[in-house]
Amino acid sequence: MLWQARQRLAALPETSLVRASGLYVTAPVGGPDQDDYLNQVVEVRTALPPRELLAAIHRIEAELGRERLVRWGPRSIDVDILWYDGFSITEADLEVPHPRMEERRFVLEPLAELAPDLVLPSGRTAKQALSGVGGQTVSRVPDKPSPSQSRGPKLDHSAMHAEIRRLAKEKGAVILAHNYQRSEVQDVADFVGDSLGLSRQAAATTANMTVFCGVHFMAETAAILAPDRPVILPDEEAGCPMADMVDVEGLEELRAEHPGAVVVSYVNTSAAVKAISDICCTSANAVNIIRSVPKGKEIIFTPDRNLGSWAAQKAGRWVIVWPGFCPTHGLIGVDDVEEAKAAHPNAKVVVHPECESDVVALADAVESTSGMIRFCREDDAREYLIGTELGMIYRLEKDVPGKKFYPLSQLTVCPNMKLITLDKVLRALQTEGPVVTVEEEIRVKALLAVQRMVEVGA
Ligand code: 13P
Ligand code: SF4
Repeated sequence: MLWQARQRLAALPETSLVRASGLYVTAPVGGPDQDDYLNQVVEVRTALPPRELLAAIHRIEAELGRERLVRWGPRSIDVDILWYDGFSITEADLEVPHPRMEERRFVLEPLAELAPDLVLPSGRTAKQALSGVGGQTVSRVPDKPSPSQSRGPKLDHSAMHAEIRRLAKEKGAVILAHNYQRSEVQDVADFVGDSLGLSRQAAATTANMTVFCGVHFMAETAAILAPDRPVILPDEEAGCPMADMVDVEGLEELRAEHPGAVVVSYVNTSAAVKAISDICCTSANAVNIIRSVPKGKEIIFTPDRNLGSWAAQKAGRWVIVWPGFCPTHGLIGVDDVEEAKAAHPNAKVVVHPECESDVVALADAVESTSGMIRFCREDDAREYLIGTELGMIYRLEKDVPGKKFYPLSQLTVCPNMKLITLDKVLRALQTEGPVVTVEEEIRVKALLAVQRMVEVGA
């Protein structure tokens, strides 16, 4: 639920997540009927004024099913504004800075991790305030081990691998996995790749069925390209918040304001949005796709403002960008790049174009996920700082042996990609579901845009 709240916060208009503390477990304060609870402090960059932000937070809490009947009773989710840079207010429903933030260990622990030197209303820094509070038992949840640390014995994994491979053979299934998938899922797949590579595999396969270990728009794209065989997504909940940021209605409105504009949509969109787009692209071929639009034509690019602006600049074109973004890549900040460069001065910085433009500006190379593998293999450096989802580190370590890879941030875990687990892949093969389908009328329209995407090279 904390993940969901965080994602929804990051998906608010003109808002992005800058960074987040680790998770902290706090012993209950409200009596024996309460469970331990989890806390986290996040830093958000937003153009929303405090009251609008508060209203949005209330909506998020309500959507997540917060218990609102008993004001002081147990609450399933509680999101507070602790601090709003340059702003303070003391009103009944909104007090910022939060009046009790200096009294609570469960607030100060994550806050001091995130911003130890933040000067609080008492004049103490968050770190100093933390040393002054006792009482409550608060402990940090250990970070997830990085993919390179997690190569322990995989006994049950290997049994599952064997069963998955046996079933895939028996049923004539091909297993495709995106580069961000868990290492054990990548290891069981027939092909691992970026969105473009996987779309091409899905279009070309002669298998009876495709098991797509990725997110919904990827499986949908496979279903658009190859309607004659079922495409199975092992967890239907694996969506993409960026893809959800653009809808048909909004895009049609924008299109009406720019009649004659060519609509280029990132593959990270729904089939319905693809159906009203002229051409799709992935991060691997966005520059070439933009270049392919006849000069003199206006271009609308959806939904990723970062990929859109970067690709347009590279292509020497001007585009109208939709204001979508990836909440996971948005977690990488300029300070992460500066810190990582200081720690590894000989390393090159390689980032995905979904990163924020100030991060992209500091990079030595901007590549799609498979482009990163090619770049690091051909380049002559020995060490790289990687700005993308953490699954990529495993992939790079495996495909480019002998070189060192460090993530720019430990926070960049796409929760949707990570929904796909080995046991879900196994169940998907056993049950031959859940199948992702696209309504034929939409599929036929979307196919035109997707086919052009598959044809244009990186
Ligand atoms: P790639 O096409 O580079 O694999 O990226 C897909 C994606 O969703 C990145 O967040
Ligand atoms: Fe979507 Fe970002 Fe996850 Fe890629 S990393 S699937 S863009 S949320």
